[in-house]
Amino acid sequence: MSPRPRVAVLFGGRSGEHEVSLRSAASVAGGLAQHHDVLCVLIEKAGRWRLQSGPEPRPSGGEPVFLAPDPTDRGALRRFADAASLVRPDVYFPVLHGPYGEDGTVQGLLDLAAVPYVGAGVAASAAAMDKAMMKALFERAGLPQVSHRVLFSRDPAKERTVLDELGLPVFVKPANLGSSVAVSRVPTTDAFDAALDQAFAYDHKVVVEQAVDAREVEVSILGNDAPEASVPGEIVPDREFYDYDSKYAPDSSTDLLIPAPLDDAATEEIRRLGVAAFRAVDASGLARVDFFLERSSGRVLVNEINTMPGFTDISMYPRLWEASGLPYPELLARLVTLATERHARRARLRTDYGP
Ligand SMILES: Nc1ncnc2c1ncn2[C@@H]1O[C@H](COP(=O)(O)OP(=O)(O)O)[C@@H](O)[C@H]1O
Ligand SMILES: [Mg+2]
Repeated sequence: MSPRPRVAVLFGGRSGEHEVSLRSAASVAGGLAQHHDVLCVLIEKAGRWRLQSGPEPRPSGGEPVFLAPDPTDRGALRRFADAASLVRPDVYFPVLHGPYGEDGTVQGLLDLAAVPYVGAGVAASAAAMDKAMMKALFERAGLPQVSHRVLFSRDPAKERTVLDELGLPVFVKPANLGSSVAVSRVPTTDAFDAALDQAFAYDHKVVVEQAVDAREVEVSILGNDAPEASVPGEIVPDREFYDYDSKYAPDSSTDLLIPAPLDDAATEEIRRLGVAAFRAVDASGLARVDFFLERSSGRVLVNEINTMPGFTDISMYPRLWEASGLPYPELLARLVTLATERHARRARLRTDYGP
């Protein structure tokens, strides 16, 4: 690799979080530019890849390109029209949130092409995106979390049992989504039906879980085999819960407290559980792990893991590293190094079989 690695930033994507990705990518490309040559590759909402000129990601435009799922092509981006090879990035950085980006699909293509890429592999990305699978892996690892049930389709008998078992209020969520889309808090039996309708409109699998009255604390994890945890930060939503608008609306007055005002014991517990959650799904490179800190009991519960967390320079993930002594450009350089290290290790694995 050249002294200035050539990094292709994949951004946009087919998910509902396309716009969030545009914002993350603008910051990532800017931060990478200090130590890397940056190539911007927009994935349009319709799924077409476009290689853009210049180091700044734009919401539209660029030459249509493709990456062949063929290792002998060594990661070339080829012009869609005539398959001419335009450029060969050293590392791919999928700054993509949600389905078709953070869920193992793009990671699968990058694996087939045998190129180094930032972040979690196929299985970890898919497991972390699917809240039902994620919770099953957390349970297996013995991590504390709220009680929950998984529904696969509308089934009135089962739905009644779920409410009897969990009690009210509950939270209802589509299994595979993010940014709080179609997540609702259900305070009464009457409201359950509409919440399920909304969630099932987005996924065939829905998670119902006990609501807790809790503070929301997050920690950033960085590394491959020896993952490290940042200082924790706290989210103080400006409304009943941390919904889509309190995350992204321009008038949102949600506060981020960095570091979170916690005693040493809670801080250490959260950092330890953050690393354990990272290992439970077998993540790589980076992840943000989100917690509930129950107000009445002080119990720490793991809520979820995000393998490609929001990445603008004012997002929680990089700000927690900044507060832990790792500035934004250095954090990005570390992620690129982790990507090449993971790739080199995987390339040494045997793929043949014989005595
Ligand atoms: N069991 C719960 N108890 C209390 N609040 C919850 C619960 N589940 C979710 N929430 C609220 O909803 C928000 C979004 O839920 P989350 O599971 O994190 O989905 P997403 O992946 O969309 O971020 C949380 O940040 C929190 O404010
Ligand atoms: Mg969340």
